[in-house]
Order: sequence, then C-alpha cells, then structure tokens
Amino acid sequence: MTAAADRFLTEDAVPFVDLPPQQDNGRTGAAFDAARQQSWLVRTTRGYEVIEYAACRELSVDRRLDGVGPDYYRRLGASEQVMWYATQASLPMIEEPRHARIRKALQHGFTRPRVERMRPLMRQAAWRLVEQMAGRDPFDVVGDFTDRYPIEVLCALMGVPDEDIDRFGSWTVDLGLLAKFPLEPHLPRIDAAIRGLRGYFAELIGRSEDHPGEDFVAAVVAAQGETGSLTHDELCGALLNLLFAGHDTTRYQFGTMVHLLVRHGWWQRIRADADAIPGAVEEALRLEPSLHILLRQAREDFEYRGLVLPAGTLLILNTFAANRDPAMFPEPNAFDPARTSPGKHLTFGSGGRMCLGHLLARTEMAEALQVFLEWFPLLALAGEPQMPAGLSAMNGVETLPLTRSVPR
Ligand code: HEM
Repeated sequence: MTAAADRFLTEDAVPFVDLPPQQDNGRTGAAFDAARQQSWLVRTTRGYEVIEYAACRELSVDRRLDGVGPDYYRRLGASEQVMWYATQASLPMIEEPRHARIRKALQHGFTRPRVERMRPLMRQAAWRLVEQMAGRDPFDVVGDFTDRYPIEVLCALMGVPDEDIDRFGSWTVDLGLLAKFPLEPHLPRIDAAIRGLRGYFAELIGRSEDHPGEDFVAAVVAAQGETGSLTHDELCGALLNLLFAGHDTTRYQFGTMVHLLVRHGWWQRIRADADAIPGAVEEALRLEPSLHILLRQAREDFEYRGLVLPAGTLLILNTFAANRDPAMFPEPNAFDPARTSPGKHLTFGSGGRMCLGHLLARTEMAEALQVFLEWFPLLALAGEPQMPAGLSAMNGVETLPLTRSVPR
C-alpha cells in the first residue's frame, strides 16, 4: 500500500447510482454518463461498478484481480451439475493459474486461419436460414434467424453432424438459463442440458483421440502435450463453456446490429459499400455490447487511484458505460459506423481473460450481415423491438420485427 492510498472502499466513499430494477440497460447508460463526471467507480444496486474507460481497461488486465470463483453459483443455490459447470467449465470463474492452463489449450482452436476457413460455412448457414424466411413479411430477425444461426456456427466449429444439430441446439438454449436469476426454477432444464452435453462431448473427445482429424476438438486435444494435460472433465467443461459463451452473446449482438443500422438510416449506406461492414460490426459492439458486465474479485488488499480495495471485493467492470466514455469516443452515444477508432471498445474485455471467440464472433456477424444485405435491399422497422425486462448482464433485442417494403 502506498502513502497515496488515503481511503478504504466503503459504501460512502463513492457515489451511488440508483438503477431501478425495471430500468432497461439503454437508459442505465444515461445515469452513468452523469456519474462518470464525478468518479471512475460507483455503487449501484448490483455492487461496485467501474464506469470509466481508462479504469476499466487498466483493471481488466490487473493481476491483483481474478475471476469470481465457483462460490458465485453456490450462493445462488446451484445443483450438483451446476457446481460441476462452475468448477470444471466456466472459464470466467476458474481462478489462476488453472484458468491460464485451460485457456492456452483452447486458444489452439481459435487461430485466425481456422476462423477464416469457416467463412464459407457461416455464409451457407446464414443463406439457408434467410432462404427459409422467403415468404415472410414482416419477419422477426431474432425468432427467424439469430435464435438458430450461432448454434449452426458452433456445431460447424465443433464438428457436430447435421443430424445432431436440433438436439445439440436445445441443450445449448437450456444452458443459457445459467444466466437467469433466480436460478432455482430453471435447474431441471439446466441439469438435463449439462448431463446431455457432457455425454455428447465425452463421445466427441473419444472419437478425436482415436482418429485425430483437423477439426476444432482435435486441435485442442492435440495441444495438450504442449500446454500441460487437461483432465477429461476440464476438456469436456471447456467445450461446454464455449456453448454458453458463444450462443446468446452472438445471438443478441447480431439482432442489435441490424436494429441499429435500420433505425439510424445506415442500411443503404452500408449496402452500397461492403468495405464499411467491419466498421458497422465494431460500432454495434461498442454502443450496445451484448454482454457488458465483467466480474472480478480482489485477490489481495490493493490500492488503485488512492482508494484501497480490500481482498475479496467484487468489482463489476461495466463495458457498456466504459464504451460510452467521451474521453475515449467523441459523441459517444451516437451510432456512427464510420468512426476512426473502431475496435478500441472493451466489449470483449482485454488481457488474460479476453474473449477467446472474438474473432469468430466478429467474422460470424460480418458474414451474416453480408447475406442480409444481399437479400434485403430495403429494410424498415415493422414495430418496436422487445428488450429484455429489467437489468441483465445480457443486452440486446428479444424480437425485431422488420419489413422488406419501406413505408412511404
Ligand atoms: C458478440 C459476441 C461475444 C461477446 C460480446 C463476448 C464477450 C465476452 C466477454 C466480455 C468475455 C469476458 C472477458 C473478461 O472477463 O475479461 C468473454 C469471455 C469468453 N468468451 Fe466471448 N463473447 C462473444 C462471443 C464468443 C464466442 C462466439 C465464443 C466462442 C465460441 C466465445 C468464447 C469465450 C470464452 C471461452 C471466454 C472465456 C475466456 C477466458 O476466461 O479466458 N465468446 N466473452
């Protein structure tokens, strides 16, 4: 601790921002805009939240902070299967140095060439789903497209054969219930999904060990010699975690991007210039991150900007608020795909816990957007989208009704 550290973190050491439970995440942003002028850290009904860009960036790579550990789920009354998930699968919860060892093995599955090779598969999946929407007008981007698209991409990534996609897809959807609060009413479906997926992955890993191929699972299995072996449970858990990490995040983010482009009059502009697609993806990620809360816990007492954070303090790094910090992004609340600082946002975190699937997600969104732009020269809102009720770590459209004919 240094002499500059003059204050212990206590409830009255930082401003309080009242977030009524029914307030949606969009309006929450405005409350943080005002608070950021006074402080980098605030207290809310959820806990202590870091809302300034520079502080979020620094703290996301600070080794004095770690994942929150499996107690997070234990406190929510988790079942045996959920505790297996928390201790073996959930990378954001697994503490160092075990986290780094598992992450290193998984990284071999997410190389740029591997993601690039998946572009045609992504495009085919998007094309097939859009074709199935052919007779529908208006249509719902979420129900008709994004509910299914990320699952198809994840199945292609992991080498799940077409005939298993439906079964795999419903387990993946039920796994997403792990983000619900309270957890208890959803436990029967979550438990069945974890059990089903563990059995499925055990077979997939067994096949890969017996007949090594070139797919994702094979790459991760093969990396083990190099990175130090993972136990069978860790390997199974790591694959299971990818479904949780890669489904709802991308599902919400794609719908949000289409919504922003249509609502803010960018659809035709992007359509006229395919080079603008990456900028549109980055700007949607910045302005409306689908997952905008990174959870961290102090490993030890430590000082940051004159404030002492006692060991065990839980911190929320709020990337929604950080991405709207005017010190980093001029006119931060405007949707502008032509920004000159694309990719500087913190939506995927940064440092040793940064999202492993960021390249996959970015490519997935760009490929699907390209297909939408080819199929739909004109798009307009056919009603207001529904947003998740109340405060949630996940943000994005639940329904997005669109029409191909633009009303006069
Ligand atoms: C738009 C879509 C996505 C968003 C916004 C997103 C965001 C995030 C965030 C914020 C984290 C936590 C970073 C931290 O704590 O510092 C994370 C972690 C992770 N994400 Fe993503 N993600 C997305 C898609 C994906 C996809 C498609 C995959 C893989 C299939 C994936 C795999 C992971 C994994 C494995 C982790 C844990 C990394 C670790 O703890 O080392 N994500 N993601």
